[in-house]
Amino acid sequence: MLKYQPNMKSYEEEYKNFSWQIACNELEYKDGSIINIGEYCTDRICRMGKASKLALIWEGFNGEEKKYTFDDMRVLTNTIAAFLQKVGINPGDRVCLFMDKVPELYFGFLGILKMGGIAQPLFSAFGSESLLTRLEDAGTAAIFTQKKHLPKVRNIVEQLPSLKHIIVVDDDGSKPLREKEIAFHMDKAERVNEFKVYPSKAETPSVLHYTSGTTGQPKGAQHVHYSLISQYITAKYVLDIKDEDIYWCTADPGWVTGTSYGIIGAWSNAATQCVLDAGFKAETWYKFIEKHKITVWYSAPTAIRALMKEGTEVVNKHNLSSLRHLTSVGEPLNAEAVIWSKEAFGLPFHDTYWQTETGSIVLSNYPGMKIKPGSMGKPFPGITATVVDLKTHLPIEKKGIVGMIALKPGWPAMFRTYWNNKETYDKKFQNGWYLCGDRASIDEDGYFWFVGRDDDVINTAGHLVGPFEIESALLEHPAVAESAVVGKPDPMNMEVVKAFIALKPGNEKTKMLELEIMNFVRKKLSALAMPQEIEFVDSLPKTRSGKIMRRVLRAKEWGEEIGDISTLENDM
Ligand code: WT7
Repeated sequence: MLKYQPNMKSYEEEYKNFSWQIACNELEYKDGSIINIGEYCTDRICRMGKASKLALIWEGFNGEEKKYTFDDMRVLTNTIAAFLQKVGINPGDRVCLFMDKVPELYFGFLGILKMGGIAQPLFSAFGSESLLTRLEDAGTAAIFTQKKHLPKVRNIVEQLPSLKHIIVVDDDGSKPLREKEIAFHMDKAERVNEFKVYPSKAETPSVLHYTSGTTGQPKGAQHVHYSLISQYITAKYVLDIKDEDIYWCTADPGWVTGTSYGIIGAWSNAATQCVLDAGFKAETWYKFIEKHKITVWYSAPTAIRALMKEGTEVVNKHNLSSLRHLTSVGEPLNAEAVIWSKEAFGLPFHDTYWQTETGSIVLSNYPGMKIKPGSMGKPFPGITATVVDLKTHLPIEKKGIVGMIALKPGWPAMFRTYWNNKETYDKKFQNGWYLCGDRASIDEDGYFWFVGRDDDVINTAGHLVGPFEIESALLEHPAVAESAVVGKPDPMNMEVVKAFIALKPGNEKTKMLELEIMNFVRKKLSALAMPQEIEFVDSLPKTRSGKIMRRVLRAKEWGEEIGDISTLENDM
């Protein structure tokens, strides 16, 4: 029995009667009128009489704390928007956010949207090469960063002719800034109380999130301001955000969860949000929940498994009675984790499923609906979801049969294209369905059960990494002749990166070289993309046309049948 009344009274009723118009009405949005996410998350909340309500409670690595009301946030996002205009950033320009989870990241995101720019958040742990690929593709005009990440930007600035400004948010004047670099201190800048928000319409581009695929470099999933409609109502119905909640989304805004629900969904619902800009540690996390009396928590399976490993003793040392609703996303949430969380917190984690491309939650377990541990739940109202046959792409009517998850296009938050890559975008649609690229089955009661990805993308701790990007980086190492990168099962992170490498003649297969190559990738791309394991081989399995067959290597790692290699060859 729930101790509270969920925002969505009955899933069945809502699913039957739902229309996105409900969200439009609640947001007082009329077809064809102005809709700006930055305005909706700040000015509108102030107009609703919540100007002095806390919007952000931020805690840094050393326990330092900052608090901002919705009015502070309104003014600071104005200040950033006005600053961007002053330095010559135009509506439609891509502005990258390359920072840790500091307040400037959150307000920068909304400030960019307020002046009509396209926000391009990138994970601050990325190395120069990961950064270069994405900034080059987007033709980014400006980048916000911190002193500690500046060297990575400096490494590549000469290769980025479109990049006009490098905005440093914490410059202390100790070292001179170089050409194109500007210091900007959000808290010290002259506050801009009134700003004329860019009159964006539903289809005006808003956010560009890069995501990895099987082939080629990462692709920019381009979203529009209308995404707000989905993000607002899913945050309300799935995360169940209410006015009195203190909400914590553990995701970094470098990834879509951190923007759709760590910024837009939360603040358009006027939630008070907490942000912890510190790495994972069970003790730190529980202290954070206890201190701020967090009520609604959105996290990820890897983190939950890591908490599980620490056991319930450390849970019981803290008063976590404020918690009332727990949600998870990013990778399969195993049944054990759901059962454990009931034991540890008295509450089950509710799994949610979606992607960078979908922009908002599409499958979920809802508060008040029976959870089947291990299942991703049911389609969100307004979403038509099924599984389709892997070859014919026709919906599979029979229950329990594995197919590819497919969605009827047309919900507000769906991506509108891949930046500069319409061809790949078009391929995601078949027979009138958007194909998610994941395999699942649907049971008698309509619950979806995740089986695995339908491509070679690696999901490590909820982060997707593309094998192609890693293989390309490996090839730049002088000792590497060729390589194939696959996901290897891992009890904590679900998968880790494993690289099979054939060396150029004259190189020895030593442990030293292995470590050197690992480090090489870590620096260029990121710790996530770094192979945790390297296996030196004399040659790699290839098709007749010379394409490396990752699937054969992957199947070996997973102890699976290699499958029909002949069709794979024909597919090439
Ligand atoms: C991919 C999307 C959107 C949230 C963060 C990730 C996997 C996501 C689940 C889940 C099993 C899941 C899928 C999906 N995934 N949620 N509940 N159960 N797998 O966004 O980086 O675009 O990754 O993450 O493979 O396609 P993303």
